[in-house]
Amino acid sequence: MNKLLCLAVCPCSDPALCAPITEIRDFEVFVFHVRDKNWKFYDWSQVTTVASFADYYEPDLMCFAHSKGVRLVLKGDVCIKDIVDPKNRTVWITQMVTLAKYQFMDGINLDIEQAVWKGSPEYYALTALVQETTETFHREIPGSQVTFDVPWSPDCVALRCYNYTGIADLCDFLFVMSYDMHPQLLTEWIAGANSPYNETLTGYDQYIGLNINPKKLVMGVPWYGYDYVCLELTKDNKCILYKSEQQVAAGQQISYSTMMKQLNSSFSGRLWDDNQKSPFYNYKDNNGHIHQVWYDDPESISLKTAYIPGHNLRGIGMWHGDLLDYSIDPVAQQQTEMMWKALRPKQSPSQWQP
Ligand SMILES: *[C@@H]1O[C@H](CO)[C@@H](O)[C@H](O)[C@H]1NC(C)=O
Ligand SMILES: *[C@@H]1O[C@H](CO)[C@@H](O)[C@H](O)[C@H]1NC(C)=O
Ligand SMILES: *[C@@H]1O[C@H](CO)[C@@H](O)[C@H](O)[C@H]1NC(C)=O
Ligand SMILES: *[C@@H]1O[C@H](CO)[C@@H](O)[C@H](O)[C@H]1NC(C)=O
Repeated sequence: MNKLLCLAVCPCSDPALCAPITEIRDFEVFVFHVRDKNWKFYDWSQVTTVASFADYYEPDLMCFAHSKGVRLVLKGDVCIKDIVDPKNRTVWITQMVTLAKYQFMDGINLDIEQAVWKGSPEYYALTALVQETTETFHREIPGSQVTFDVPWSPDCVALRCYNYTGIADLCDFLFVMSYDMHPQLLTEWIAGANSPYNETLTGYDQYIGLNINPKKLVMGVPWYGYDYVCLELTKDNKCILYKSEQQVAAGQQISYSTMMKQLNSSFSGRLWDDNQKSPFYNYKDNNGHIHQVWYDDPESISLKTAYIPGHNLRGIGMWHGDLLDYSIDPVAQQQTEMMWKALRPKQSPSQWQP
């Protein structure tokens, strides 16, 4: 490992850009980067952290992010069963911090989306993993950031019964994934919003209700939607889903850029559901099947972000930054700009009432 560190040569034209970012900003804008070179077109006047979820390392992204005072952090994912053993935990954390140092990165985002029973060995191991990862990163990389991805509600969503208060205390902040919510909220076999307004904000109320400091919460919004094939579309626009025992979420994920191209050729155009406060549209595919697509756009996102200032959340982020159309097409450029702008919370005159 030490040999590896000695080999690390700063890839930036200015060697000062390899120094870790130590500045702490009041408002976080946390971006997941997954693919392509679109990061060049992010709104860098807003971004504070980029989590690199691409399966390759990009030295030019590191140099660029650092030139903007932005942290670049690793993805951390490990099978919880394997880190119940404290020695194994130390081995994993050492590998991660060594990799971060070698790549001149500024922390780690723990994305461990695994089912855990309350009180199980895995339950305690996960909290210990967060504590030890944070201690190691903060010690080894000055100013580094350790964050943890949590579901939209702390209420054992997707059987993730974690020690949320402990985890929030022991890391820098939680990224709350306020999306993929439809399967958990399904009461009738009909398509619905990916990130409905009421349940999204109820989730934050629940985290804060556990005595988690709101400054430990970053609101995660989706830049993608779900495409459902309808068994039948009713007159009042309910998309009845095919029943399937194995698969609850029968939808396919679809990017904002794809949806914006499809919206023009949809037979419904943009529709709005005022209960879920979410846009949707209906289209017919080449085989004659009717689909309904639920998504988020600047209007639905702005409604949710209005919660942030009144409740003093730490910031905002999205899954993920590469789902917009960054081409030079003027319509796409305007849509992309509006999505980035929607991240800036506006204080709403009326406070959220559940
Ligand atoms: C340690 O982790 C490895 C994988 O990294 C796993 O194969 C092994 O079973 C783990 N050992 C224990 C005791 O958990
Ligand atoms: C959660 O973790 C914290 C910090 O380690 C600990 O003090 C607390 O007892 C844990 N709570 C439960 C319910 O396990
Ligand atoms: C809002 O969501 C919560 C959590 O799912 C639910 O208990 C409540 O009934 C909902 N309220 C409204 C007005 O829909
Ligand atoms: C959608 O249609 C409108 C009106 O015809 C047009 O102005 C716009 O450029 C189209 N958008 C896309 C993405 O094709």
